[in-house]
Amino acid sequence: MEKKRLIVTGCNGQLGRAVNREFDSDSRYELINTDVTAEIKLDITDVDQVMSFVREKKPYAVINCAAYTAVDKQENDADLSMKINAIGPRNLALAASDSGAKLVHISTDYVFPGVSDHPLTEFDPTGPSSVYGKTKLAGEEFVKQFADRFNIIRTAWLYGDGHNFAKTMLKLADAHDELTVVDDQLGTPTSAKELARCIHELLPGDNYGLFHGTCEGDTNWAEFAEAVLKLGGKTTKVKHVSTEEYARMNPQSAPRPAYSILDNYMLRLTGSYRFADWHDAVEEYFKDGLK
Ligand SMILES: NC(=O)c1ccc[n+]([C@@H]2O[C@H](COP(=O)([O-])OP(=O)(O)OC[C@H]3O[C@@H](n4cnc5c(N)ncnc54)[C@H](OP(=O)(O)O)[C@@H]3O)[C@@H](O)[C@H]2O)c1
Repeated sequence: MEKKRLIVTGCNGQLGRAVNREFDSDSRYELINTDVTAEIKLDITDVDQVMSFVREKKPYAVINCAAYTAVDKQENDADLSMKINAIGPRNLALAASDSGAKLVHISTDYVFPGVSDHPLTEFDPTGPSSVYGKTKLAGEEFVKQFADRFNIIRTAWLYGDGHNFAKTMLKLADAHDELTVVDDQLGTPTSAKELARCIHELLPGDNYGLFHGTCEGDTNWAEFAEAVLKLGGKTTKVKHVSTEEYARMNPQSAPRPAYSILDNYMLRLTGSYRFADWHDAVEEYFKDGLK
């Protein structure tokens, strides 16, 4: 049987690596890995390059794991943010529909205003306040406008094989007896592995559209830090502070959402995938050697 080709963009990122591990043992698919620094270079901001690459490879699907994720940096770099997070997915959407391929695109909780009294569904109004949130929302809109068959999956607090909050906490714990972490921002840590499993489940079917995809349950950053330190065998204490107190000590350029709990409503309605509870996913992450 001929294998279905999947073009993975941003293959060197956290999700790109997790997608590779997830599909590795599935003989139905052949992965074509691309990134700006990979052996096969594909810069998603270059429309001509993207169109000709996708035309040549004729994939079954394009999985867009590429993004500009440095939230603070892009507050002063809005044009680059717009190019990577909005023009990039536009190019992939155009190329995917031109070649009859599906597009899987990843978005974020930052598209919401960050205040809510209920877990946010796909039907709640957006309203980003950071450059990252605004450009990711523009990316979603381009995908809806130009792709024929797509899944946009909004995730949050992602960790995997790369730079992330969990690894930062473990590193800081080696040098400090106490870490100061905010406890008034709510959300759900989500492993790149769980997100890759969700993509794997959705890919062969016809359940297209916008989905929320985060692990189950919710917490705050201080509690997440405590869970990570415990699993990492660290004795470092976590001092809980408010966002306001933290900002006085460590000013950050991008506003952080106080409320980021997403409800995976569309996944539930369509019976497509049930994410693991965040406690179980983070335990699995340690068992996997922080990959
Ligand atoms: N990380 C989170 O907490 C989080 C939360 C919610 C949603 N998300 C979303 O989840 C997805 C995956 O995030 P991640 O954490 O896996 O990201 P990541 O680790 O930052 O990986 C992104 C990858 O994209 C590459 N890239 C940057 N510009 C590119 C371009 N023009 N063309 C092709 N590749 C390019 C990056 O290369 P360089 O490193 O060389 O720039 C990197 O390898 C993204 O859509 C992100 O917005 C992430």
